[in-house]
Amino acid sequence: MKNVHVIAHPLVRQNLTRLRDGQTSSQEFRRILGEVAALMVYEATRAFATRPVRVKTPLETTRGHELKREVLLVPVLRAGLGMLDPILRLVPHARVGFIGLKREEKTLQAVAYHKSLPPDLRAMEIILMDPMLATGGSAVSAMDLLAMRGARRVRMVNLLAAPEGIRHVHKHYPGLPIFTAAVDRKLNSRGFIVPGLGDAGDRLFGV
Ligand code: PRP
Repeated sequence: MKNVHVIAHPLVRQNLTRLRDGQTSSQEFRRILGEVAALMVYEATRAFATRPVRVKTPLETTRGHELKREVLLVPVLRAGLGMLDPILRLVPHARVGFIGLKREEKTLQAVAYHKSLPPDLRAMEIILMDPMLATGGSAVSAMDLLAMRGARRVRMVNLLAAPEGIRHVHKHYPGLPIFTAAVDRKLNSRGFIVPGLGDAGDRLFGV
């Protein structure tokens, strides 16, 4: 699939298996999701542009690199919060925006209830994070909010994606790169990814 990057790293696969296990406790789920998120963002940031800088070692001056653009991390509340801290540890100078979306259980429509973003996103590298890409409604709503602020360089990191969700997102935002640990079989009649891992937010926070 174009613009879909499945991160088939052995550590990602092993951790994803633990996350799928319904016996894994919330405490473990939080820890493991954090570990996978860090591995995934390593891949998602690989193509970030850098610019040359000079650096003085204790011995001499040499050439080094720094990221060319400011980075904005955007977790989709609630479940995206489970990916934020470990990613922030890898990109400590990043700014953090928040988008709150809740999927109505019956209609599966995403309803926005919170938005906290810098006013102008045109020059920023943005990582949108949410463990689950199911129907894709939440991802499209989040992208709409980012696009309204001029976002041009967005990468989305999802632990799990459904083929239906990927199609929906790419219908609206064909150029959006999606990084995921796995593309699962399908959505069930309740809009859950199967085989999936259940409701990521509930499993993370126990409610
Ligand atoms: C889940 C998940 C995504 C969304 C995916 O969140 O974390 O945000 O659903 O579904 P979609 O692709 O069909 O829109 P939920 O609405 O359950 O909220 P929560 O994170 O607060 O639990």
